Amino acid sequence: MKANQARVLLTGASGGIGQAMAATLRGAGAQVMGVGRHPAARTDQAWVQADLTTVEGLAAVAGAAAAWRANVVVHAAGVPAFGPLPGTPPAQMMAVLQANLLAPMALTQALLPQLQRLPKAQVVFVGSALGRIGLPGFSVYGASKAGLHGFAEALRRELAGGPVKVQTLAPRSTRTAFNGSAVQAYNQATGTASDAPEVVAAALLALIQNEAAEAFLGFPERLAVRLNGLLGALLDGSFAKHRRSLQAAPADHLNPGGTTP
Ligand SMILES: NC(=O)c1ccc[n+]([C@@H]2O[C@H](COP(=O)([O-])OP(=O)(O)OC[C@H]3O[C@@H](n4cnc5c(N)ncnc54)[C@H](OP(=O)(O)O)[C@@H]3O)[C@@H](O)[C@H]2O)c1
Repeated sequence: MKANQARVLLTGASGGIGQAMAATLRGAGAQVMGVGRHPAARTDQAWVQADLTTVEGLAAVAGAAAAWRANVVVHAAGVPAFGPLPGTPPAQMMAVLQANLLAPMALTQALLPQLQRLPKAQVVFVGSALGRIGLPGFSVYGASKAGLHGFAEALRRELAGGPVKVQTLAPRSTRTAFNGSAVQAYNQATGTASDAPEVVAAALLALIQNEAAEAFLGFPERLAVRLNGLLGALLDGSFAKHRRSLQAAPADHLNPGGTTP
């Protein structure tokens, strides 16, 4: 839809990518209602303070979005996880799946009846290149994003022909606090490129306007994702450098963003 017709409920609005998304969307004429666990940074913006991993938080966001008549939902909230699987506590695995996969699934389910009553609506899931190509060190995070991609694809096909379009935006590595020093060192050692959050925000705006099913950022990542889809097992030998970088990762690998997921 046109940006000036969009009333966007944006989760993760306080994050590095979310703040850039909110600014870009507003700049293009869209209305934005942000969601975060803390009070709004500015008093002049529509905001819901809620923890999306709780039943109460989900209900508060769904209620506020319906009352505000949101017609676009962008699921950009998420938590990181990086490191060898044996060092990842089960509680962290559950927290990552809860925030990155179950919360957007449940929020979409709660909002769907209201969105289906509108002439036109869009739901955008912020996935990741790592949701389509598994890399050493990202087994838990990649699982959460792969799950999100699968959910979005099935739901898009389930809702085809109706007013609600389901879309996936898959950034590659992006320069925000999400990536702690361990991921930055891994990216450097493996020659992994990263984008500014504004690049992801521009891609979101384009996706809302062009209504495409999905957008992957970065040329090598787009190619790698396609090759992996066709010939995944043949690529298994290509990640020795990544494994070595993982072994050399600094000790903060279990808490990469400096946050407690
Ligand atoms: N940065 C990257 O390299 C990269 C690459 C590909 C995809 N992505 C995806 O892009 C999205 C945004 O990432 P980012 O780099 O902007 O990360 P970020 O700066 O760490 O921001 C994360 C956002 O998620 C919100 N959030 C986390 N847990 C929440 C919860 N339980 N309830 C409500 N909100 C919660 C945070 O809100 P609070 O203010 O409440 O903490 C914050 O707004 C994520 O889905 C991430 O997986 C990131």
